[in-house]
Amino acid sequence: MKYYLAPMEGITGYIYRNTYEKFFHDIDKYFTPFIVPNKSKSFKTKELRDLLPENNEGINIVPQILTNDSEGFIYISKKLQQLGYNEINLNLGCPAGTVVSKNRGSGFLAKREELHKFLEEIFKLEDMKISIKTRIGKDSPEEFYELIKIYNEYPMEELIIHPRTQKDFYGNKPNLEVFKDALTLSTNKICYNGDIFTAKDHEEIIRTFPTVETVMLGRGTIANPGLMGEIKNNTIIDKKVFKAFHDEILNQYIEVFNEEKNALFRMKELWGYMIYMFSDNKKYAKKIKKAQNLSDYKGAVSSLFAEQKIVEGAGLFSDKE
Ligand SMILES: Cc1cc2nc3c(=O)[nH]c(=O)nc-3n(C[C@H](O)[C@H](O)[C@H](O)COP(=O)(O)O)c2cc1C
Repeated sequence: MKYYLAPMEGITGYIYRNTYEKFFHDIDKYFTPFIVPNKSKSFKTKELRDLLPENNEGINIVPQILTNDSEGFIYISKKLQQLGYNEINLNLGCPAGTVVSKNRGSGFLAKREELHKFLEEIFKLEDMKISIKTRIGKDSPEEFYELIKIYNEYPMEELIIHPRTQKDFYGNKPNLEVFKDALTLSTNKICYNGDIFTAKDHEEIIRTFPTVETVMLGRGTIANPGLMGEIKNNTIIDKKVFKAFHDEILNQYIEVFNEEKNALFRMKELWGYMIYMFSDNKKYAKKIKKAQNLSDYKGAVSSLFAEQKIVEGAGLFSDKE
């Protein structure tokens, strides 16, 4: 089996990826959060920092592009080639309103004719492998049966499927019926993505789809950085390791963002996921959220690690009442 870390804007930037790799080194492929080609035809400072080879040493990383403009895709590809990349991922999954209203991400799925033309152009690129990360439709799962006909016309590196529609956002459950059909209909290799939050969830997916050889995990791994270890080696993350992992990310954010406030904002976002791994976590979650400075934040986190334990088998949302 191969395991990928899902791209997550605001979370899986190079600091998170490098720290994860240093502590756990059990991911076969990482993806950058999406990059949008712009009129100035140059990377934003933040994007470039995330892409620079010296910030991604020793890890297998694929840049992700979000656009419906083939020219933009092509010039960005050339720039990425110059940075040493030979694979790009196209985002056809983002469900955010601001993205969808511009017919990008999962919004592009409703414009099949345009999508077809766009793919026709970008697949002319030489020396660049292209993979696609897609939802199964914009409004209805039935759309997938038309989309797959289009995807099948192109020899892509892989087709990563998050079997929800844009309308689902993150609600409902992944549509495993459509995913099953995708496995028989697709002429490209398929990677499964969606709602693997525990080793048990992973087991169920593998049991249901024994031909799947690649899975991508996002929120489950952010909540429990030891999830891959549970899946691969049946080991539970040690609290000391979890704390050290946390501390390293925090210290790097402080260094890179200059301002404490920005580092805290990022850390709080991570805690929106990680908190579910801890017993009796409610009051600690509140304290972390309320912390206005580094010292309050560190105090809240230290008491959580000192006073609570990691719950075996827990995962994202597992303690929701
Ligand atoms: C906060 C957040 C940011 C995300 N950013 C991206 C992104 O930049 N590109 C992308 O393709 N998907 C993005 N996603 C979607 C994830 O990559 C993934 O497909 C989704 O979370 C489902 O997988 P999971 O259930 O394992 O988390 C994001 C999801 C979340 C929750």
